[in-house]
Amino acid sequence: MSASYELHGSVAVITLNNPPVNGLGYETRKGITDGLNKAEDDANVKAVVITGAGKAFSGGADIREFGSPKALQEPNLLSVIKTVEDCSKPVVAAIHSVCMGGGLELALGCHYRVAASGTQVALPEVKIGLVPGAGGTQRLPRVIGVENALNMIVSGDPVKSELLAAIPGQTLFSKIVDGDVVAAAVAFANEVADQRPLPLVRKLKAEHPNPDGYFQFARNTVKAVAKNFPAPAKCVDAVEAALKKKFDDGMAFEREQFVALMMTPECKALRHAFFAERAASKIPDVPEDTPVRAINKVAVIGAGTMGGGISMNFLNAGIPVVMLEMKQEALDRGIGVMRKNYEAQVKKGKLKQDKLEQRMGLLSSTLSYDEIKDADLVIEAVFEDIGVKEQVFKTLDEVMKPGAILASNTSTLDVNKIASFTRRPQDVIGMHFFSPANVMKLLEVIRGEKTAKDVLATVMQLAKKIKKTAVVSGVCDGFIGNRMIEQYSRQAGFLLEEGCTPEQVDRAIEKFGFAMGPFRMGDLAGNDVGWYIRKRRYIEKPNMRYSKTADLLCEMGRFGQKTGAGWYDYKAGKRDAIASPVVNEMIEKHRAELGVSPRKISDDEIVGRLVYALVNEGAKILEEGIALRASDIDMVYLTGYGFPLWRGGPMCYADTMGLFNVVQSMRRFARNPLDDATFWQPAPLLARLAEEGKTFS
Ligand code: NAI
Repeated sequence: MSASYELHGSVAVITLNNPPVNGLGYETRKGITDGLNKAEDDANVKAVVITGAGKAFSGGADIREFGSPKALQEPNLLSVIKTVEDCSKPVVAAIHSVCMGGGLELALGCHYRVAASGTQVALPEVKIGLVPGAGGTQRLPRVIGVENALNMIVSGDPVKSELLAAIPGQTLFSKIVDGDVVAAAVAFANEVADQRPLPLVRKLKAEHPNPDGYFQFARNTVKAVAKNFPAPAKCVDAVEAALKKKFDDGMAFEREQFVALMMTPECKALRHAFFAERAASKIPDVPEDTPVRAINKVAVIGAGTMGGGISMNFLNAGIPVVMLEMKQEALDRGIGVMRKNYEAQVKKGKLKQDKLEQRMGLLSSTLSYDEIKDADLVIEAVFEDIGVKEQVFKTLDEVMKPGAILASNTSTLDVNKIASFTRRPQDVIGMHFFSPANVMKLLEVIRGEKTAKDVLATVMQLAKKIKKTAVVSGVCDGFIGNRMIEQYSRQAGFLLEEGCTPEQVDRAIEKFGFAMGPFRMGDLAGNDVGWYIRKRRYIEKPNMRYSKTADLLCEMGRFGQKTGAGWYDYKAGKRDAIASPVVNEMIEKHRAELGVSPRKISDDEIVGRLVYALVNEGAKILEEGIALRASDIDMVYLTGYGFPLWRGGPMCYADTMGLFNVVQSMRRFARNPLDDATFWQPAPLLARLAEEGKTFS
């Protein structure tokens, strides 16, 4: 049963009971209306309280029903709210913990609301590309004012109940209580049991002293921030309707916006990302109740670029870290960088000074393995050299306590081989952080052939604790993200040879929505990183074609921002990329040597070649079982590579374009004599799905 009914004297208490957050699924909705009917029929009942069991009043729609006909099955949420409003006896919402989306809309339909302090209150629909669809945009402005309501609806962010209760003139909450909110609501219900008429939010007026000016301002602000997302602007329209239209007309207007947005590709992409994030944490053969190992102390080997950022994640989560290096200078430098990073946060007002000291206080450092041997998890972030890794893992095997998890942050090396350096390969796993590791959301978790299930479960759970989006990858060169980006970079190189400039390529893909084009990205990450990998490839895969332009660039010492010059020029201390005549001359000269006469290449072709290069490699990764699902690949690209969120990731984008069309484009690219026909051979999985008219998802 998803909603229970019991009597507290003459007050009926309906308790939503649909774990984990009392989502308003069909059974719960039915439970509410059944309860209300029962209360109406019982002459002894004078008032009703609606509350939620467990850790939420209600988190809103039941996401398990999303997109299924059950979501609309009567009583749908609008009908439930109407039944509440029409109840002849006062209905009091007893709100606590979490009151969001449909949960808040339900509460707004009640005659009164009593809330526990600390309740997180939100209308987060905008985050999945929607406007609230059950009256949120019409009722909230009527109880907390137009501006406060619009801020909440456009941002989707939660606000604490006590802050809302402090808004002058608000009628959202009749009472804020500490302690037992149901008891308080029952007492309140007894107090108001005989009061008539029953107050209804729909009867109130939403007002603003200067509506036209304000909504103009709101539209401009939203337009500047939410460039590619239609929902925030529709939220403004809907809230304006609350002010300017009659209640029922406003409700109809809100519904129209909701339904129209539901069909947009942006909304589909956001919903896809929402579900993809949840799906990524599920591993079919590792049940969710797999016991995990306790992680109370972490050791990090190497205090370089990655070691420092990785350590900060754990310090931020309150987990002590000990860093190990070869030399004291390296430790001092690494720790200095970490402190500077924290200080920058303090300067920006994002961190308090005492928190900084608290976090740094959890950090210790050492040159001796003896001091890390009792760590529960050790993450190696030393040079990307298999010899160095071998030496480190052999030592770890000697010193670490039994059961300690041994992780490597390698970006390209074979995790199975690294595991084989130890006598406990079951305890070895890859934890591939992205730079800057204290900022980037993505964590690729590399499951070795022998990695134990509880090790995997522990790392996945720990990832949540340090607020990362973890995606499991099998062992292969480059794992999911870098393996795909290599093909994308190869295409970027071919485009230069055929006639593009780095600026043109970057501009086209940035217009598509990428945070940064391949050349600006190369300059940021260091062009020498790719150079090092290509040198290895030239030996491993002598027949694989690469453009030589990137090598020529590195031979000029142009490694990127760190050397003050890369694909672009940089002014001292600045990060603005300035088109470089020297680089363009180098590219032209190289073209002439190849005998290529440059042609004008459209932005569409640039985007198609770069994105479909990702898609084709993604399909291979999926087919080989390196990624568990297409949406995992999308998560990697959304959280680690700046792929535009409103396009849902490369695989989702390909599905949206239609796999048949993707394959057709690839065939066209293959016919270009300056491109690489083998490159554009569709992955067997892609070819098959396209043929069958199916999608990756
Ligand atoms: P880095 O060169 O900045 O730092 C490596 C640190 O390890 C240096 O401070 C060095 O003194 C220390 N070190 C080397 N051998 C050691 C040993 N035997 N014992 C203790 N300390 C030792 O390198 P970075 O960039 O931090 O990379 C580290 C690892 O992270 C590599 O495997 C790399 O592939 C991987 N990685 C790097 C990313 C990046 O963007 N830089 C991104 C993701 C992974």
